[in-house]
Amino acid sequence: MKVISTEYSQVLGAKVAEQLGTGVVDVQFSRFPDGEQYLRAGPVDREMVIIGSVVNSRSLIQLLLLVDACSKSDICLVLPYMGYARQDKQFREGEPLSARAIASALAGGSSRVITVNIHDEGVLEHFRIPAVNVSLGHDIGRELKKNLDDPFIVAPDDGARYFAEQVALAGKWDFDHLDKTRISGDTVKIASKNVDVRGRDVVIVDDIISTGGTIATAAAMMYGEGAKTIGAACVHGVFTGGAYTHLKSAGIGEIICSDTIERASSTISAAGVIANAVRR
Ligand code: R5P
Repeated sequence: MKVISTEYSQVLGAKVAEQLGTGVVDVQFSRFPDGEQYLRAGPVDREMVIIGSVVNSRSLIQLLLLVDACSKSDICLVLPYMGYARQDKQFREGEPLSARAIASALAGGSSRVITVNIHDEGVLEHFRIPAVNVSLGHDIGRELKKNLDDPFIVAPDDGARYFAEQVALAGKWDFDHLDKTRISGDTVKIASKNVDVRGRDVVIVDDIISTGGTIATAAAMMYGEGAKTIGAACVHGVFTGGAYTHLKSAGIGEIICSDTIERASSTISAAGVIANAVRR
């Protein structure tokens, strides 16, 4: 077994290979004069683990090309972050079910798929091959434990409640969730809710931070309810535009994320949970 990755997941790919006790396959990435992507992989193994987050169109094409370059191998496809997964319903007439489109495009040629904290596990069925989702909830909890004694873990919406519970388990901490309604791509409304966070260190946890609107709005509410400090933790640090700065200016202290999207703030690695899922 060997590991091969897109240029967007090369650090994570190397870490997974290390955990699996195997090596990585070298890939040259370049472009044709018309802008089309080209890649050339070194010798592949009978079993290949392909690792690549869908963070933009370029990363998606790289994944498709890697799957084809490994077509003679038995492929385990790992999508640490699956972009487009949030469009998991046809909310309005005429819209695509983007999560399904991406899943079916990527699944052909692989024998199984692993995702990490996918936005909704219902998306897994669109791959139509065995697919499992693993979670970094416990890893985030362990990381928070290094600097915090007794934080209050808050999920911004019901969808993130189970994740908050996983994080809180690390120290048997208090946790709760807020009630978020999305108004537009970068604006959310959070209904007032009496969470007793007076004098507490609060950590707001979510699967994704994209524009930062969700966390900033939740933080304003938690400060309003008496929180002493507020930090934020997520699995996928998308940080669209100036999201990280936006959060800092909203008074958020530590902001941590994992390396499902490789960032300077990626203090938690998904390599362990991915390697365990690959071994199963
Ligand atoms: C949506 O339900 C997700 O779980 C996140 O809450 C959302 O993607 C965060 O987006 P933003 O940072 O743009 O508010």
